[in-house]
Amino acid sequence: MEIDITNNKSITYKEAGTFEETRFEKIHNVIFESSQEASVIVAEEIASLIRKKNDLNEPCILGLATGSSPIKVYEELVRMHQEEGLSFANVTTFNLDEYYPMDKNNIQSYFYFMHEHLFNHVDILPENINIPDGKVSLEDLYQYCIDYEMKIKTLGGIDFQLLGIGRTGHIGFNEPGSHFNSGTRSITLDHITRMDAAPSFFGIENVPRKAITMGIGTVRSAKRIVLLGWGISKAEILKKTIEGDITSHVPATYLQEHKNTTFVLDQGAATELTRIKTPWLVTSCVWTGSLKLKAVVWLSELTNKPFLKLTDKDYNDNGMSGLLTEEGTAYDLNIKMFNKLQHTITGWPGGKPNADDTNRPERATPNKKRIIIFSPHPDDDVISMGGTFDRLVDQGHDVHIAYQTSGNIAVSDEEALKFAEISRLLNANSKESENIINFLKHKTENDIDTMEVRNLKGLIRRTESLAATRYLGVHDSNVHFLDLPFYETGTVKKNNLTVADIDIMCNLIETVKPHQIYAAGDLADPHGTHKVCLDSLFEALKRLKHHSYMNDCWVWLYRGAWHEWESYEIEMAVPMSPDQVLRKRHAIFYHQSQKDGVMFQGDDNREFWVRVEDRNRLTAKKYNDLGLAEYAAIEAFKRYHF
Ligand code: F6R
Repeated sequence: MEIDITNNKSITYKEAGTFEETRFEKIHNVIFESSQEASVIVAEEIASLIRKKNDLNEPCILGLATGSSPIKVYEELVRMHQEEGLSFANVTTFNLDEYYPMDKNNIQSYFYFMHEHLFNHVDILPENINIPDGKVSLEDLYQYCIDYEMKIKTLGGIDFQLLGIGRTGHIGFNEPGSHFNSGTRSITLDHITRMDAAPSFFGIENVPRKAITMGIGTVRSAKRIVLLGWGISKAEILKKTIEGDITSHVPATYLQEHKNTTFVLDQGAATELTRIKTPWLVTSCVWTGSLKLKAVVWLSELTNKPFLKLTDKDYNDNGMSGLLTEEGTAYDLNIKMFNKLQHTITGWPGGKPNADDTNRPERATPNKKRIIIFSPHPDDDVISMGGTFDRLVDQGHDVHIAYQTSGNIAVSDEEALKFAEISRLLNANSKESENIINFLKHKTENDIDTMEVRNLKGLIRRTESLAATRYLGVHDSNVHFLDLPFYETGTVKKNNLTVADIDIMCNLIETVKPHQIYAAGDLADPHGTHKVCLDSLFEALKRLKHHSYMNDCWVWLYRGAWHEWESYEIEMAVPMSPDQVLRKRHAIFYHQSQKDGVMFQGDDNREFWVRVEDRNRLTAKKYNDLGLAEYAAIEAFKRYHF
């Protein structure tokens, strides 16, 4: 069966196994520019199914997921209900899963999630909503799961199943080891799954260990399945699922045998697929400059040879003979690529005064540049580009630092209590200190920090930031705390960007009129703040780009604490000496509330300064392995053209 959905773009969903665009992929997938655009298309497919069933006077049975992946699909369905009259009166839903034990009133429950994002805003009949009950007693659990399964069957099975995918390869909560024919049951959550859920539960120790989930068999019996995958943190598991062998270690691979499944991905999530990562292995390529570098870096890493030692045979043996035909010999191509990479290296990130800048990443003039470093949280500046920051100040540029969010959510209650108690001892603002101490001492898991507590936590991060910027030689008047409003919810879930956020960004840019902007281009931030901060910059640039001073403004993106640019993506590589590495470490240490038990570490237990040193050392090693000079560490940037 083929389902044609035509929106702005024409997308044809094809039955798995009938498309074979590559010899690697075993599940039909479509890649969109952004998750927003993709979510609208998926919502349209759901809406047209609901309408079709309605016209036939039939119920529409939807299998629904929670988590971050389907949020925009639900948003769009709500919009269609409100603005286009899409009715859910004929819809019955079955949710995939629920934590166990879990009270439905708990804000972490999937019951709460579904009502918050969808059910409270549409006309679905409450009796048609089915979500596994996280409060069912242990004795009744077995029968409860059988009944859930039976209810789906009795209603004729699921017409459309929406899925996300966990980094373990789970669908629903079918963790590795789940059986092909499994039905609805209770399950023990994988450690990685619990780690991923930790931020919203404020620590892994609060994440339930068990859940109730529909089984793989239940999911597979759906007539149509659409799995959503967003962001590079999902790229690796999606490659395994789409291209790997079917295995219970990656339960989502079972979907390879389902005949009407489509994976809908954004560009980040698709990055590891062979046809995206190494297209020359799949088809003949149009060899753009950046694709050439990407391919030669790949070949060099594959063969363990520096650029200048690659031979014609290396190219031919690895699907790149077309490139050689275009470029002549390996010798010519190697030198060209070597020079290209060599020219990214500079100790003068603000440009080298009075030097020929033809082959340098930055312009020589003006000698002294006005610069804004945007830092999503109060510490990303030093974590991700502390060495470059240090050089920019040292080389006499007018460096401004803008902390986009207060970062208050990442300060632990214990840390805040310590400062509140000191404040009370000093008798300053003692009423406020008293309130804070009282609140923190009696705080329960459903309590959101009061404004006073959030304020204190934000102040802790401000003073830490000032200690670091002073250490690097920046005057306090050049340090800006933007406290963008989208962040100030007191919870992990943030608001959408509004004009108020963009105004604040624009005001600063208009005041400074920078020649350079540095910003976090880190889309893998597990709780999304970096991405929103980047979007706020892009919006501001869109608004300001017609001003003449913006013609002189270049934007450089660094990556945050989680990932680094690939070698072929780097357009400016700033080396650090061993002493500069130590200065950077020192600057990071000022952010004391983010040391030791960091709350938002993701699945990497290393402290920020350790992982960033490892990362900068690795970038330097990669350059060295490709045949370039050996440095202690390198910070990397990619230019953003607006
Ligand atoms: C949620 C569910 C899970 C999630 C998966 C991805 O109901 O069953 O399988 O879909 O863990 O979660 P997100 O979308 O938050 O990355």
